[in-house]
Amino acid sequence: MEFNEKVVIITGASSGIGAATAIHLSKQSAKLALVGRNENNLKRIALYCEKSKGEKPLTITADITEDESVERIVKETVEYFGKLDVLINNAGVIGMGGVKNSSMETYDTVMTTNMRSVYHLTMLAVPHLIQSKGCIVNVSCIASTKPSTMALAYNISKAALDHFTKCVALELAPDGVRVNSINPGFVKTNLLKGIGLSEDQLELFVKNVVGNMPLKKPVEGNEVAALIAFLASDKAASITGSNYVIDGGVSLR
Ligand SMILES: NC(=O)c1ccc[n+]([C@@H]2O[C@H](COP(=O)([O-])OP(=O)(O)OC[C@H]3O[C@@H](n4cnc5c(N)ncnc54)[C@H](OP(=O)(O)O)[C@@H]3O)[C@@H](O)[C@H]2O)c1
Repeated sequence: MEFNEKVVIITGASSGIGAATAIHLSKQSAKLALVGRNENNLKRIALYCEKSKGEKPLTITADITEDESVERIVKETVEYFGKLDVLINNAGVIGMGGVKNSSMETYDTVMTTNMRSVYHLTMLAVPHLIQSKGCIVNVSCIASTKPSTMALAYNISKAALDHFTKCVALELAPDGVRVNSINPGFVKTNLLKGIGLSEDQLELFVKNVVGNMPLKKPVEGNEVAALIAFLASDKAASITGSNYVIDGGVSLR
């Protein structure tokens, strides 16, 4: 099995892309540390992983915007499994609005969750990843390079994440640690649930987004999970510093 004996931290494993990645990797015998704030959802995904083949994951209920929680994620994982091979920085939030109609609160929440916490968690994980010659996969977005007016703070947080990915890849290459990002287009998850649209408005929004995708289908969570797994695996041994787009062709327009 591809991830046999590999210890993997997945942030944001209680929902969407992170949950799909947990299930995908558990089927490949990974030893998982699943991180999220919602303990019930986290436990539900852990049980699913356990039943679907893998061993019981470690669940860590933690808010990655709190420094103490970020420290706990690495400490508990290494204490429990004895090492760390893969860090998947997936947790993220979106905040709506541009310079005319967003707030500094939105900016702070989005940047702290999507970038500061990744910086901090990566710093703490790196000594262990150097030891294991492991790797990092960051979950970015096509919004990092494709300007849009809907979610300014989100877009720039992901642009920062792409550059972080490349700089850290260069820094850690001599240590044998690879760092890549995946950049999805629209994936149907809970991400957009908090943006203030009614169910009907959200459905219409999704229909429009999918209608504008050259492949005319949403990207599925399990497809994103498979790409993350590929980049985290030895099959990608020569890939570092890359931002892998998976967007049904949206970036072509
Ligand atoms: N869906 C898309 O269309 C899309 C497209 C491009 C990129 N992405 C990226 O994919 C990643 C995953 O998003 P998703 O679409 O799967 O959305 P989702 O279903 O809303 O999942 C987000 C995950 O992040 C976790 N999270 C958020 N804030 C956190 C915090 N402060 N501390 C700990 N965990 C936190 C949530 O866990 P709790 O609620 O349990 O805290 C949840 O597990 C994000 O980085 C997002 O930007 C998504």
